[in-house]
Amino acid sequence: MINNSNAEAAKPKFFGRRKGRVIRKAKSFLLENFLPKIKLPANKIANIAKCFNSPYNRYCLEIGFGDGEHLAAIAATAADTGFIGVEVYKNGVANLLSLLTGIKEGNDCPADADVSISANRTDNVRIFDDDVRLLFASLPDSSFDKIYLLFPDPWPKKKHSGRRFINSDNLRELARLLKKGGILQIATDHQVYKRWVLEQMRENKDFVWLAKCSNDWRMPPADWHETKYQRKAIREGRKPVFFEYQRR
Ligand SMILES: C[S@@+](CC[C@H](N)C(=O)[O-])C[C@H]1O[C@@H](n2cnc3c(N)ncnc32)[C@H](O)[C@@H]1O
Repeated sequence: MINNSNAEAAKPKFFGRRKGRVIRKAKSFLLENFLPKIKLPANKIANIAKCFNSPYNRYCLEIGFGDGEHLAAIAATAADTGFIGVEVYKNGVANLLSLLTGIKEGNDCPADADVSISANRTDNVRIFDDDVRLLFASLPDSSFDKIYLLFPDPWPKKKHSGRRFINSDNLRELARLLKKGGILQIATDHQVYKRWVLEQMRENKDFVWLAKCSNDWRMPPADWHETKYQRKAIREGRKPVFFEYQRR
């Protein structure tokens, strides 16, 4: 039997931020009253379709959705797709809830039971508000058509390379979770991380890089929605790249 201190020790270490500035009234309300309605169950998930009120044609996972702008935008344009978004950063989760419900700071909050997805949106987003590595074991094989990993923390110092999300253990899980032919989309604006992704993926037998010429990975895919970190990178003069890998 695992006692609590052993379970705690077995948890993977997370090095990023879990919380930022004080979360104000409307977003605190949403964390308390809306998140429980769209949060993934803590137990093992036998079939990804069961996480939603009705089945979808496709399923996608976004890891580290940040402020949730990309996830909210793609979910609004793909009503046939169920999305699972994962983020540790509480302020980011709260922001996604605000985008999904349309409830912003300054709005009157509805009664607890009334809070729901905006009338113009499909109820196709579910959230895991913790480290995605804690979710992996609960998810069945071949669950997703596409996995997004957009602007992961680069951890550019060599001594921190062990913290980078792209590594052989996580890639094994991502390969398991993707359907055959499914897509792993990785974007980064950091030179060190660009090289790191290329190196890690070159050695990986589960994925094939879909770039057809030396330039097409420098352009965002046609259906792309900008993220907060992408805008920051461009403002600061860095050039993002967009890797698309297919599950063999
Ligand atoms: C640099 S930010 C990018 C956010 C967003 N994708 C964007 O492009 O604006 C990386 C995000 O990944 C989240 N993150 C890092 N490791 C994670 C993990 N193991 N599980 C869930 N989220 C993670 C961080 O909390 C952070 O919000």
